[in-house]
Amino acid sequence: MCGIVGYIGGNDSKDILLNGLEKLEYRGYDSAGIAVLNDSGMNIFKVKGRIAALREKVDTSVQGSIGIGHTRWATHGEPSENNAHPHQSASAQFTLVHNGVIENYYEIRDEYLQNVELKSETDTEIVVQLIEQLYLNTNDVLEAFRQALTLLKGSYAIGLIDNQNPNLIYVAKNKSPLLVGLGDDFNVVASDAMATLKETNRYVEIEDKEIVLVQKDRVEIQKLDGTVVEREAYVAEIDAADTEKGTYPHFMLKEIDEQPIVIRKIIQEYQGEDDTLRLDDNIREAMKKADRIYIIAAGTSYHAGLVGKQFIERLADIPVEVHIASEFSYNMPLLSEKPLFIFISQSGETADSRAVLVQTKALGHPALTITNVPGSTLSREADYTLHLHAGPEIAVASTKAYTAQIAVLAILAVDTARAKGNGLEFDPLQELGIVASAMETLTDQKEEFERIAKEMFETTRNAFFIGRGMDYFVVQEAALKLKEISYIQAEGFAGGELKHGTIALIEEGTPVIAISTQENVNLSIRGNVQEVAARGANTCVVSMKGLEKDSDTFVLPQVHDLLTPLVSVVPMQLLSYYAALHRDCDVDKPRNLAKSVTVE
Ligand code: F6R
Repeated sequence: MCGIVGYIGGNDSKDILLNGLEKLEYRGYDSAGIAVLNDSGMNIFKVKGRIAALREKVDTSVQGSIGIGHTRWATHGEPSENNAHPHQSASAQFTLVHNGVIENYYEIRDEYLQNVELKSETDTEIVVQLIEQLYLNTNDVLEAFRQALTLLKGSYAIGLIDNQNPNLIYVAKNKSPLLVGLGDDFNVVASDAMATLKETNRYVEIEDKEIVLVQKDRVEIQKLDGTVVEREAYVAEIDAADTEKGTYPHFMLKEIDEQPIVIRKIIQEYQGEDDTLRLDDNIREAMKKADRIYIIAAGTSYHAGLVGKQFIERLADIPVEVHIASEFSYNMPLLSEKPLFIFISQSGETADSRAVLVQTKALGHPALTITNVPGSTLSREADYTLHLHAGPEIAVASTKAYTAQIAVLAILAVDTARAKGNGLEFDPLQELGIVASAMETLTDQKEEFERIAKEMFETTRNAFFIGRGMDYFVVQEAALKLKEISYIQAEGFAGGELKHGTIALIEEGTPVIAISTQENVNLSIRGNVQEVAARGANTCVVSMKGLEKDSDTFVLPQVHDLLTPLVSVVPMQLLSYYAALHRDCDVDKPRNLAKSVTVE
């Protein structure tokens, strides 16, 4: 979603801001802007649309060694140049960028800004106007900033520049991510370290309700009451090269191809001594103690959770419920006596999941986050973290994080089963090794999936994916992948459920893709394929070796029964990729979507 970059130092900030915003493009946005302060005042450039357009608009002759930039994903007010950040106060003394949502927007406007003419429809503008109004009373910028923060309700990450003081960026956060990056005679601010990796890999975390005063050679963190906080910097372990496409046309294709590497990395990271699994003892204990596990996640991570439930129930004998994060509060189940909450989140920043974490923490329940970003909000706020080791995932559509989540959930389930003394034949690391090779076989056959995608999706407006048992979870993910990047309306259905209503939608040529990887459902899902074929559907069957029929469209290499989702999802990802490509869609940055959904 929205992104922030700030720079203060000895160089011109313009290109650093633009390059940083480009690195944040993957998170999804609809408008962007930068503000650069120099002797002639504050220079602001904003556009609706892409950073490329912003680059063209920026006056290259403008130079300034302090600046802030922003990518906006509209929440309050339409995507437009006027609503794009940075926003300025009435007198133009203050310029501000903001991520998050100010919940008491109307209250602040009505109480403090009656005499101020607002120029945009955003909640952000009220923050900068409020700071100016408070400054007029206090004549002290820091005090005005502090007072404003105590009045704001909701989530925010803020970068503020006072054009009377070119030596300081005021920074603060609450519930939205923000970091300060440390350099040699310069410092940067970023909502995601990825934005400023070119400048530095040393970062300082900011905690909620802290103020940070960022100068070019000094960073001071304060609590809201003014107490100074000392905090060590950490080194961001992201290889800048991982954030580049290299020779790939799209990040999504690169990330699909990286899946075998990620699975091997997970094997390496979780391999203990003497055939044991390497996992934090505290996680093992928490799993053993739980009488019921509640998995909380959104989107693709929710689909991985559905598979994880099967692992934990079948191997570790612990009942599991999987909940969509955004619904949990409204449909909260009766909790067991000793629940353990598992939050699955690639980004570790999903606001819906975080809201549940805040709620369950208040109830005193332990939480484990499974994430690709240790140090993310969900990781910091949960009791324990399991790392996905998938490397940065840049394409908005999640691929390698999904398979990494399933692999880590399998390892967690086996580790718990072993800790509980359940005798198991299943060696997860060995089986994951077989999965990695099977994935490679699939990614080597891209032409085949490009051909199938053309045949199935070239002209259609809708599509159905069907499966049973384990395959039902994968078809839900397959449908999400197809719809989010190709805009084809797609549904993932339980094979047997189709004839209870939805089969009415099947007509001549409707694409129906069936997955069959489980022996116990092989015949029934094939029966469902016959039912739709008899009504004119254009069918495609993807089966697992050992269960195949001559007429099947594609046969997957065989892997352990439990791990089939890791393999059957790869053709689905590739079909979606090629469907989107041939429809000229923006594969990596689909419309209306954000990589990291930081608002509820
Ligand atoms: C789909 C996709 C989203 C995310 C969802 C949760 O391809 O990427 O559905 O899975 O927004 O995000 P995380 O896993 O970051 O919590």
